[in-house]
Amino acid sequence: MKIAVLPGDGIGPEVTREAVKVLEALDLPGLTLFDGDVGGIAYKRHGHPLPQETLTMARECDAVLFGAVGDPSCDGLERHLRPEQAVLGLRQELGLFANLRPAKVFEGLEHLSPLKPEIARNLDILFVRELTGDVYFGDKGERIGIDGSREGWDTMSYSASEVSRIAQVAFRAARAGDCRVCSVDKANVLETSQVWRDTVIEAAGAHPDIELTHMYVDNAAMQVISRPSQFGVILTGNLFGDILSDLASAAVGSIGLLPSASMGERETDHGIFGLYEPIHGSAPDIAGEGKANPMATILSAAMMLRHSFGCEAEAARIEAAVEKALADGIRGGDLGGEDGCEAIGAAVRERL
Ligand code: NAD
Ligand code: IPM
Ligand code: MN
Repeated sequence: MKIAVLPGDGIGPEVTREAVKVLEALDLPGLTLFDGDVGGIAYKRHGHPLPQETLTMARECDAVLFGAVGDPSCDGLERHLRPEQAVLGLRQELGLFANLRPAKVFEGLEHLSPLKPEIARNLDILFVRELTGDVYFGDKGERIGIDGSREGWDTMSYSASEVSRIAQVAFRAARAGDCRVCSVDKANVLETSQVWRDTVIEAAGAHPDIELTHMYVDNAAMQVISRPSQFGVILTGNLFGDILSDLASAAVGSIGLLPSASMGERETDHGIFGLYEPIHGSAPDIAGEGKANPMATILSAAMMLRHSFGCEAEAARIEAAVEKALADGIRGGDLGGEDGCEAIGAAVRERL
């Protein structure tokens, strides 16, 4: 069971360290961890945010545990050298087109949400976000526009085959729950979204047990907050999924709570190859202060055990320990508390 640990920048190393300690506390036989550089730190050490040796290491492992990348001192670099290219490059190079982002308010922890408890109670949404297409990966550039001023441009597109394979992931995931899939797009304006919607409808033909609905993304942003109980799985594209999942994290209580799994089609001896990371970034505003909440990364490690190693019992133990820590009043600054990153990690380990 080989795991590439890529802590990255900012709070990435702080939160990853706690997740690794949780994995080590489980004492799983045959677990081997390898460390690699990604992001701004990799650029500074090796001249590239995703060095070849890091990519090779990731390929040779069964799963990747990823912290976060992003460093304000790199914001002026040419785009291909910026830290964010590391995570985009890994997703693309490793074929990780399916990003699962579960957002759930734990029972009894409704008070962590800024929503009214009776609304928060019913928030249990799995975002299935397409991860290797959309405006993220289309041609882009800068030119002089028709009025003689600078103009930036990015191309948004989805092919039917890209849409169809992510729709299958959403339908399969929904079947493990209550079979509801809401596909979110902007088909009233975008051709990309019209292909998206038509393809999702066609793909659903083979899944009569799935209750498929469609919603425009602006309305979806409003409905996730006002009536979350109507959603089971939200299937959406790369950009809309990025934005809606941060929104949902705020409704759960904090961005420091939401994990994610990014997967493709590659199978290993243990399960499906995947990259696991919190949905948040490198949080430069609190980096180095020991204040970050590591729960999202710890929960990402649980997703890794479940999906890449078939260790369901251990995954559930980690999730229960996080839930218990929250129920016992352990709170990072993101939840209005005083507990630091290390203290939160220790509190979770004590409850394993
Ligand atoms: P961010 O998610 O890093 O931070 C947003 C806000 O949430 C900040 O106030 C931060 O302090 C807080 N926050 C985030 N995670 C937290 C945690 N675990 N505990 C407590 N508070 C937390 O988003 P941003 O500020 O827009 O981006 C910062 C950098 O991170 C940028 O360079 C961005 O590109 C990058 N980024 C990387 C990833 C990734 O690596 N996958 C994801 C998102 C953003
Ligand atoms: C995320 C991040 C990334 C994204 C950035 C850093 C490229 O926001 O993982 O949610 O937009 O996918
Ligand atoms: Mn994001």
